Amino acid sequence: MPLDLSPILAQRRSVRRFKPMPIPEGDLEKLLFALQRAPTDASAQLYSAIRVTDPGLRDKVAQLSGNQEHIRQAAEFFVFLADVHRLERLLAHRGERMAFWPRTALHFALLDAGLAASYLALTAEALGYGVCFIGGVLNGVEELINLLELPRGVIPAVGLAVGVPDEEGPPRPRLPRSLVVHENRYRPYSPEDLEAAFQAMAPYSRVGDWGRVLRRYFAQGGTMEERETSYGRALARQGLDPDLPPGAPFYSLGALLAEALGEARAVLFRKGEAWLERETEAFRGEGSPGEALLTALRKARGEMKDWP
Ligand SMILES: Cc1cc2nc3c(=O)[nH]c(=O)nc-3n(C[C@H](O)[C@H](O)[C@H](O)COP(=O)(O)O)c2cc1C
Repeated sequence: MPLDLSPILAQRRSVRRFKPMPIPEGDLEKLLFALQRAPTDASAQLYSAIRVTDPGLRDKVAQLSGNQEHIRQAAEFFVFLADVHRLERLLAHRGERMAFWPRTALHFALLDAGLAASYLALTAEALGYGVCFIGGVLNGVEELINLLELPRGVIPAVGLAVGVPDEEGPPRPRLPRSLVVHENRYRPYSPEDLEAAFQAMAPYSRVGDWGRVLRRYFAQGGTMEERETSYGRALARQGLDPDLPPGAPFYSLGALLAEALGEARAVLFRKGEAWLERETEAFRGEGSPGEALLTALRKARGEMKDWP
């Protein structure tokens, strides 16, 4: 029988105040069922979810995620993870080696995690619960990886708080549909389109200025910029950077190079090796450019033994 979700979609809004009431077992079962029913690329299910039930752990996750009180208050809190670790294990279990595809893996794993979270979220809203996605899990992503003991190939994608709502309000605005849904080809935006966007979104902000919201998050000095470096380092550490060896504590190969050049007179690359030169000494590393330079830098810093 067809089921029209429009009334639920029309009313839904993110909820940031929850009543101190648990979600009954039967409903929880429906939510967990929903997340696994989401479609997934090539059947791989490149995601996991951690249900954070330990109050002490929940508190630490909240602290690391911008100290958002609704993470503590919600009946349930999940951290959705992009996860290629399990796939690697499954392949190995059948004697196969995973190919090298870190960027594509991240693409599909983040999508899978987002879809699973969305299916849970919409099901929760249809059952009358309130939800709030939490991108704040990227605020302290490196510490969160430690806290949740995430293996290589796993990275936090988004958090999701679910509970009985303790707030009401009108649904929040969206951009005019004509700016979001293109027909056949991407339509370039005119200044009038952009003005219409700010007008439509004005009620989003208490003072009627959506530009302030965008600035706070996305302009120079905003939240996203603060997250960028540690997220890049976390990706490299989790083996999801194509140019850096797993565990490398650098944002990118460019950042590693910049740091090495800050401590050296020159850096020299040859096929399969890198040299870091100081005035009177030089340090050599082997492997891909990232691997070789990281080794040379570690030797130069005395973090690794340099055999004569
Ligand atoms: C990926 C993602 C991350 C988000 N992160 C947060 C967050 O950390 N804290 C929060 O209170 N809301 C967060 N939100 C909720 C958005 O702010 C909210 O969906 C948006 O303002 C639109 O409002 P609405 O959901 O009520 O329509 C997030 C939403 C998404 C999809």
